[in-house]
Amino acid sequence: MKHPQLIDPFNRNLTYLRVSITDRCNLRCMYCAPPRAMIPRLTHAQVLRYEEILRIIRIGVQLGITKIRVTGGEPLVRKGVYGFLAELGKIAGLTDISLTTNGVLLRDHLAEIRDAGIKRLNISLDTLDPERFKRITGYDYFSRVWEGIEAAHDMGFSPIKFNTVAMRGVNDDELMSIARLSFTYPFHMRFIEYMPIGNHHLDKKVQLLAPEILARIQPLGDLVRIERTRNDGPAERYRFKGARGEIGIIQPLSNHFCHRCNRLRLTAAGQLRPCLLSDRQEDLKGPIRKGCLDEELVRIFLQAVRFKPMEHRVDAAQPEEVHDVMSTIGG
Ligand code: 5AD
Ligand code: SF4
Repeated sequence: MKHPQLIDPFNRNLTYLRVSITDRCNLRCMYCAPPRAMIPRLTHAQVLRYEEILRIIRIGVQLGITKIRVTGGEPLVRKGVYGFLAELGKIAGLTDISLTTNGVLLRDHLAEIRDAGIKRLNISLDTLDPERFKRITGYDYFSRVWEGIEAAHDMGFSPIKFNTVAMRGVNDDELMSIARLSFTYPFHMRFIEYMPIGNHHLDKKVQLLAPEILARIQPLGDLVRIERTRNDGPAERYRFKGARGEIGIIQPLSNHFCHRCNRLRLTAAGQLRPCLLSDRQEDLKGPIRKGCLDEELVRIFLQAVRFKPMEHRVDAAQPEEVHDVMSTIGG
């Protein structure tokens, strides 16, 4: 049976599913995780099993999903993740499978990730200074993250994209050194505006908006704009003249990219979310565990798509806080 495509009321064709496989993480980034005591953790039973996730993804693929990103929390902390990635790699119809990780476990598991058929990695990297890394993430893991990054590069993962949340007074003096990596390596260095979501302890004054981020890195050279392609994510792409890699600016606040958003998200708890920044979601886990047919899952997908908001309402001036924490939804 040929199913309808996932086209929302604003004519966006949703082909990209971000899948959070766990809300757990081995770091406590200051912009993401609330203080330890406040973290609501899902119980084992609340989290979708791998077979359930794979079933949902197969339905998504029938409906036109071609691109999957595996996220968390930190996906690599979940037991059995490499086997799961290998299963994902076998699903016909998926043309692009990528992994978002904080890099802590990368060094020791690169071969398994590669063998599962994953070529593209997104790695969080907010600083190049080990002391600062500890302050931002709560753990003294900079050197092993960096070793993981170099090893991934040596092994031929490409492209490797980095996410740097730009924060005033925290790492804004390093944006240039981070951007400079795009000269030495073919890396995509992406700077993200801090989003005030699910988080109550980081002052909004840390926010650096895109023009300011660009101004900080501009002294490095001539920044040339790169035309977007159809399957691009939310980053505005640039390249420094003569650089091997790219620069990206992700600006959820100062420039909405909602009009070209092609994503859906599956949370670790089995909820399908049409938008990161709106708390609306459709339950897939309940029906699955009651033994529903695939037709019912298709219906829920279409329902989620029908309710994808035209745009979010978190902006720099008036953040409408999203209440679910990032580590549950998947960044
Ligand atoms: N604002 C902006 N980016 C965030 N991330 C997590 N929380 C936030 C936030 N509040 C990004 C980080 C991380 C990725 C998974 O999500 O860059 O690398
Ligand atoms: Fe940091 Fe990602 Fe873990 Fe959040 S989920 S604490 S951003 S590593």
